[in-house]
Amino acid sequence: LNNGLASTPQMGWNSWNFFACNISETIIKETTDALVSTGLAELGYDHVNIDDCWSSPLRDLKGQLVPDTITFPSGIKALADYVHGKGLKLGIYSDAGVFTCQVRPGSLFHEKDDAALFASWGVDYLKYDNCFNLGIEPKKRYPPMRDALNETGCSIFYSLCEWGVDDPALWAGKVGNSWRTTGDINDTWASMTSIADINDKWASYAGPGGWNDPDMLEVGNGGMSYQEYRAHFSIWALMKAPLLIGCDVRNMTAETFEILSNKEVIAVNQDPLGVQGRKVYVSGTDNCLQVWAGPLSGHRLVVALWNRCPKAETITAQWDALGLESSTKVSVRDLWQHKQVTGDAVSSFAAQVDAHDCQMYIFTPRTVTRSVI
Ligand code: GLA
Repeated sequence: LNNGLASTPQMGWNSWNFFACNISETIIKETTDALVSTGLAELGYDHVNIDDCWSSPLRDLKGQLVPDTITFPSGIKALADYVHGKGLKLGIYSDAGVFTCQVRPGSLFHEKDDAALFASWGVDYLKYDNCFNLGIEPKKRYPPMRDALNETGCSIFYSLCEWGVDDPALWAGKVGNSWRTTGDINDTWASMTSIADINDKWASYAGPGGWNDPDMLEVGNGGMSYQEYRAHFSIWALMKAPLLIGCDVRNMTAETFEILSNKEVIAVNQDPLGVQGRKVYVSGTDNCLQVWAGPLSGHRLVVALWNRCPKAETITAQWDALGLESSTKVSVRDLWQHKQVTGDAVSSFAAQVDAHDCQMYIFTPRTVTRSVI
């Protein structure tokens, strides 16, 4: 969507994956403080996004949405002021249907009023869900909110959450700043890998202004191993997915923080070229040895060696799979070890990768002969 936002994928935090409906203004404020004190805010995680359950079950007599009086007693404007005071942005949630998924009032047919209300509160971001949609096509229900947000005159990031219904990559580029390509993620290896594969199909439709959204991060929520979370974060970064943290940042382990704060991986996600990397080569049983790659600015490449097999294996990236001429020499930097691994790789690069782990590299050609992947 050409609204001046999303030149790179959005970063921040969202309440849903960890807290679900158990949210409050206290949690949102404490999370804001934690994003700042841990340094995550400075690394780019600048959105604090409230998901479902912030609203009262009914609109008021004027037809306006009302924050839940018990959990958000100070209201959303006060919360936005608090978040802005810490240098961050506040996101809110509504639904392109008559109710949200947790049966709070939806914004279908109330787009103008609700957009104006969000703008008056100083909200910077809207996630717009797909429950209770009366069977009307997403293509018809999502543009009215785009127009209503635009009419407020405020810059509001528009995140479509239509669960991949009706192949949004094909139409949402003109509607939103990001669109969900899949159903909801859950905190398991099976969910994360299958979502990565679905999102990969739409790679060519992503770019500055509009990104494929394979759903929020589960890193730190406990259902996957360290290696699996590292793979999750690496591949989401490479796919130019929104990096929306979904754990409780007030209580992160050192491992969770190490993953989420990897500056070099974040830089891949936020690279100004804005091209979604993709799966470029598979081998092994059930294609469990995978090479994912994509172009970066400065004629560089990001290359991920992802081992989905049950034991450690060697994975080889061949230059032809990467679109490199076989004679091209590249220097290889390891983004998890934070060091240069070799200065003059030619024709292929191989590494041993632990089960379910992913190693991530930047290849910098020493001669520029790369064709497009
Ligand atoms: C849907 C969305 C989730 C979350 C919940 C909230 O399932 O896809 O991301 O927002 O609703 O109810």
